[in-house]
Amino acid sequence: MTKRIQHWFFLLTTAMILIFSLSAAASNENSANSESERLGESVVRHEVIGFAGADYWRAVKDGQEGYTTSKSPEHGVLISVPGQTWFIMKEKWMSPLGALAIFGSLVMVALAYVVVGPLKLSNPKTGRKIKRWSRLDRALHWSLAFTFLTLAFSGLTLVYGKYFIKPIVPTELWGWVINAAKQYHNYIGPLFAIFLVAVLVKWWRKSIFNKVDMQWFMKMGGMAGKHKGSHPSAGFSNAGEKVIFWLLIFFGAFIVVSGFILDFPIFDQTRRDMELSHLVHMLSALILICGFIFHIYIGLFGMEAALDGMITGEVDETWAKEHHDLWYEEVKDLPENQPGFDEKAEADKKGNAAQDNA
Ligand code: HEM
Repeated sequence: MTKRIQHWFFLLTTAMILIFSLSAAASNENSANSESERLGESVVRHEVIGFAGADYWRAVKDGQEGYTTSKSPEHGVLISVPGQTWFIMKEKWMSPLGALAIFGSLVMVALAYVVVGPLKLSNPKTGRKIKRWSRLDRALHWSLAFTFLTLAFSGLTLVYGKYFIKPIVPTELWGWVINAAKQYHNYIGPLFAIFLVAVLVKWWRKSIFNKVDMQWFMKMGGMAGKHKGSHPSAGFSNAGEKVIFWLLIFFGAFIVVSGFILDFPIFDQTRRDMELSHLVHMLSALILICGFIFHIYIGLFGMEAALDGMITGEVDETWAKEHHDLWYEEVKDLPENQPGFDEKAEADKKGNAAQDNA
């Protein structure tokens, strides 16, 4: 028994000595390596600065291409000179002008509220409800609005966070915030693209301009000046809504295409492609953010009872008559708009009829 213990003890000690001597040798080798690396680095630095010196760095700064085994586009370029143009455009022009435009839009809606005031109904509500937006329409609207607004906030954090958030929070929190904004923006961006296409497919037909829209514009939508409260004629959408819709589709398309180029840099995009996409993305987003400040103002505060339709799906008869008279005439006699119409019972009846026919 004692012999067996001695035997095991001997084996264990030999193994430990072996392990220690091996690790000591490795650490010696490492320190020798790092010593030689340090030496190598200092030689390289000396050569780069000393021998190549000013000429070498001038060439690099001029964007002269070097040699690399990587085959990706522009990998040999250490400093991209035209990138400075992008940086100046973004930091010196677009960023301050964008902030000014957003601030200006907020001031304008505040002034509109104080000076012009919300557009009230001219007659009392009748209580009769007219169906305006289906469940699918509302789900689409709020999904698009949610993705747009959260992408706008995360995008604005990426551009302006360093001025407004960074100075007032601890560094670790700032790191977390800016990383969260970036990840959110990258992953939710494609969702916005899907909702934008769905909205285009579902609503393009009712957003085509016609003659009535011209008169609506001439009377400024009955929202301001001597025409205030005049309720110019409109179909399902008025001219103002159509403008907002097509602005959304036009600039939204630029945002989506440039966003995909930035989000998936795996198709041999060059730095120029990325810079151009970035500027197009930022400019289109700033234009839409300003435009939608007005849309949100009208939906929330600027027009009495406008929000009801996008929440419940129904609007009051008076609202329909005053803001969309041509549409009201078209739909007022539909069964679904008659008092006492039971949508669920009607759907059940249709379902039963379909089963009977089958
Ligand atoms: C808090 C935010 C928002 C509110 C309160 C709001 C409110 C409304 C309301 C009340 C309507 C219906 C108007 C009517 O019945 O004629 C509407 C329509 C619409 N909204 Fe919004 N909205 C918001 C955000 C957004 C955002 C962020 C987008 C897109 C980026 C958007 C896009 C649209 C579009 C395309 C329509 C349809 C316009 C038409 O053709 O009639 N909305 N919104």
